Amino acid sequence: MKRLVILVAVMMGVFVAAGCGGGALSSGGGEDEELYVFLPKSLDNPYWVDAREGMKAEAKKLGVKAEFLGPQQADAGKQVEIFENALNRNPAGIAVSANDPETVKATIARAKEQDIPVIAWDSEVPDSEVLAYVGTDNVAAGEQAAEALAKTMNEEGKVGILAGSVTALNARQRLDGLKKGLEEYPDIEIVTTEITGESVSGATSKAENLLQAQSDLDALFGVTGADAPGAALAVKQAGKCGDTQVVGFDVVPQGVELMKEGCVQALISQKPYGMTRQALEMLHSLNKGDELKQKSVDTGVVTVYEDNLDQFLKDAPH
Ligand code: BGC
Repeated sequence: MKRLVILVAVMMGVFVAAGCGGGALSSGGGEDEELYVFLPKSLDNPYWVDAREGMKAEAKKLGVKAEFLGPQQADAGKQVEIFENALNRNPAGIAVSANDPETVKATIARAKEQDIPVIAWDSEVPDSEVLAYVGTDNVAAGEQAAEALAKTMNEEGKVGILAGSVTALNARQRLDGLKKGLEEYPDIEIVTTEITGESVSGATSKAENLLQAQSDLDALFGVTGADAPGAALAVKQAGKCGDTQVVGFDVVPQGVELMKEGCVQALISQKPYGMTRQALEMLHSLNKGDELKQKSVDTGVVTVYEDNLDQFLKDAPH
């Protein structure tokens, strides 16, 4: 009899540990702790470092638990699996930055059925049940990037584009904004758009190939966070810093170093730290039942050149 009791107790332990018991389970915390989940596109990208820090800071301020869960590398299928698993834990709110908006819509709808508030953060999911969007206005940011690129290229020449993804809406919107902005500069020609898979190594190898194939390339433009550092590394290895201009999104440590070395000319910084803070603040108030003040929050971007880099870094986190 005693053995049977022990066996049942052990089995119950396994059952709860596997997350089958429902409720807001959280690693390390009590069952009732309010848990929020952030679903970035990947974990291995330098862009997400500040985003995670912003989440932690806001969670501390609000006295809640928050987790940052994603596939190691950008992967739409794995992201959905992680999203589904998060729902099974019945969290108080979820923020998702979708690798591909189409793939997450069904899970967002399921969250609504479970009364779990979901917002899009960093990249929008239109025509879905998300309650709001917190992040960059990517079309406007793409246009702002076009200005920086044109200025850096003295308004003429050939540019190759490196884009982390063509499924993520933020990348597509940035490209649209960039192209729209470049309409003002007819002497700038986009010679190609390469997909890099949201990794520094992917961007570096695409840029290396481009530099070899097109010796007269004047500039490389990076659409997502790993692209400009990857492009600049290739430019540096080719001994072309300052000859082939590099402009692109996000200020990450590698980009800062390469800008200081003269291998990156302009960076469009989003506000990943503040963006995540605001997203968590919004989820927290939605969970309390507050009414949404805004369905879309544009967190803004800043253009950083070598001459305002120090000031920009002093003002961090953004
Ligand atoms: C984007 C993210 C993306 C990251 C890394 C950022 O510019 O906002 O959505 O995952 O770059 O590629």
